Amino acid sequence: MADNIHPIHDRLVQRQEREAANGHRGGVIWLTGLSGSGKSTIAAEVERKLFERGVFARVLDGDNVRDGLNANLGFSLEDRKENTRRVAEVAKLFAETGALVLCSFVSPTREMRQMVADIVGQDDFMEVFINTPIELCEQRDVKGLYAKARAGEIKNFTGIDSPYEAPDAPFLDIKTADLSIEQAADQLIEALSL
Ligand code: PPS
Repeated sequence: MADNIHPIHDRLVQRQEREAANGHRGGVIWLTGLSGSGKSTIAAEVERKLFERGVFARVLDGDNVRDGLNANLGFSLEDRKENTRRVAEVAKLFAETGALVLCSFVSPTREMRQMVADIVGQDDFMEVFINTPIELCEQRDVKGLYAKARAGEIKNFTGIDSPYEAPDAPFLDIKTADLSIEQAADQLIEALSL
C-alpha cells in the first residue's frame, strides 16, 4: 500500500447491507473473447434483461472505458494489462456496492485474467468465455478492424499479430456460433442462478 494512506472502513454501509437491499449478491462477470466475438452485445443484452428483473447490473466495456478512464492506453500487452488492472479495480468497487458488473474486455492472456481474479477476489470472479472462432469474427468484421489488421493498418491486433489465450476452466463457455444474442444472454443469466 502507498505511504500515508488510511482507507476508511468504520461506519461505512457494509456490503451485506447493500446486497440485502438489492436482493442479490454482487460480483464480477468477466466476458473474455476475441474482438468481434459478441462480448459487448451479449453483455448489453444481459444488462437489459437483469435490469428488467430489478437486478443492479452494470456493463463496463472496452471501447467505452478506453474512451475515458483508460484513454492514455494502447494495445501493447503492457497497456492491455494496465487496462485490465484498472477495470478490475473499478469492478471491485462496484461489486462491493452489491452490483453485478459485466466486464467485456478482450483481456487476451490467462495471466491478465488471473490478475482480475486476484484483485476482485476469487469468490466474486466469474470468467465467461465468449467462444467464437476467429474465422467467424473475421467474416463478420462488424467494425472493419480485421480487414485493417490484415492490411497492416492496425498493429498488435488480437488473433492476427497479438496472442489470445482461451480460458482453461471458465465459469461458463458460451459457444456463440449457433446461438442468437438472446440465447447467449439467457445461457449466462441461467448460469448465474439469481
Ligand atoms: S484489451 O486487450 O482487453 O485491453 O482490449 P479491450 O479494452 O477489450 O479493447 C478491445 C477493443 O478495442 C478495439 N481495438 C482492438 N482490439 C484488439 N486488438 C487491437 N489491436 C485493437 N485496436 C482497437 C476493438 O474495437 C475492440 O473491441 P471489441 O468489442 O473487442 O471488438
